[in-house]
Amino acid sequence: MKMLVTGGAGFIGSNFIRYILTKYPSYAVINYDKLTYAGNLENLRDIENHPNYSFVKGDILNTELLNHVMKGVDVVVHFAAETHVDRSIMGADAFVQTNVIGTFSVMEAARQNNVKRFHHISTDEVFGSLGAEGHFHEETPYDPRSPYSASKAASDHLVRAYYHTHGLPITISNCANNYGPNMFPEKLIPLFVTNLIEGKKVPLYGDGLNIRDWIHVEDHNRAVDMIIHAGKVGQTYCLGAMEEKTNREITDLILQKMGFGEEMIEYVEDRKGHDRRYAIRPYKAMVELGWKPQITFDQGIEQTINWYRDNPEWWKRVRSGEYQDYYKKQYGEKQGMTI
Ligand code: NAD
Ligand code: DAU
Repeated sequence: MKMLVTGGAGFIGSNFIRYILTKYPSYAVINYDKLTYAGNLENLRDIENHPNYSFVKGDILNTELLNHVMKGVDVVVHFAAETHVDRSIMGADAFVQTNVIGTFSVMEAARQNNVKRFHHISTDEVFGSLGAEGHFHEETPYDPRSPYSASKAASDHLVRAYYHTHGLPITISNCANNYGPNMFPEKLIPLFVTNLIEGKKVPLYGDGLNIRDWIHVEDHNRAVDMIIHAGKVGQTYCLGAMEEKTNREITDLILQKMGFGEEMIEYVEDRKGHDRRYAIRPYKAMVELGWKPQITFDQGIEQTINWYRDNPEWWKRVRSGEYQDYYKKQYGEKQGMTI
């Protein structure tokens, strides 16, 4: 099996590659990544010498390179994206380019090279915002409200269109908020944990009562593995661990586990258009694939806090942009180099 993973140097993609090569050491895995601010090969240091792993530095907008790399690939798992909602509010250009046009470009290459499966990684944010009641599921109508979620929704529609129009053998997963090791410290959990390690306050948006549904990255990746191997072509799977929490609850738990009090909370201006609540019912994946989350939030958050405590050099370098300077020196603007 030859697998092309886009965005494999990011948070979920790097955890996915490690998971796949550990479970299926005979699979050949190509990591295709542009190494944006969020991409970091340090995430895969422990497996970079694996005989079946290779890295290609490339932009998913580079159709020529994609076509070249896609030769003989059986399965594409498409993680590459711009992913941070706050950044999409500050400027949506890269989100439209990478998430919409980039997805089109990866699918075209997959179509031209007759891949056997194109799995598209998407988000629960495409469904919009819930009130106090109800849950997102596979039949929920799309209602994206941030530039990020609109770009992901557009890409989901394109992926489905390629299935209906061209018969591209696609599957899609719409997942809830992930957390775990190697998450870029701009998102809620790693930002708060690393701020506290440095003795800084944590910025809670609005009233702190927005709700997210949290899943450990390993549970997400196990589900993706099952979808690739046993999911039905043309189908969508909603993924989540049924761990709904207000941001204030998350903050209190982190404060308590790290030995701080509520004086470390700083309420700040709310995010524009801040979605109030996300909650996923992952019953289809549970019933059809036999998947179920294995890591409780309490276990996962403890493991995650410990990971950031044990790896300060990782997040300090990530925050300072040191890796970016290093990659620029190593690669320049050139694409297509393999290490
Ligand atoms: P991330 O920001 O940590 O990583 C994104 C990766 O994509 C980086 O390695 C980056 O270099 C690469 N990339 C970005 N633009 C690229 C381009 N033009 N060409 C090639 N590579 C490019 O993201 P993540 O949190 O790991 O998310 C991965 C996927 O999962 C995304 O599609 C995201 O929408 C989806 N998702 C994320 C979450 C979450 O909670 N993080 C939840 C549900 C779905
Ligand atoms: O639901 C899946 C999505 O989860 C993914 O598709 C996105 O890629 C991922 O970034 C994440 O989006 P969110 O916007 O939910 O994640 P974030 O960590 O940015 O914010 C989580 C919640 O915490 C949200 O309600 C905003 C709030 N928040 C966030 C930050 C960064 C704060 O209160 N303070 C902060 O500093």
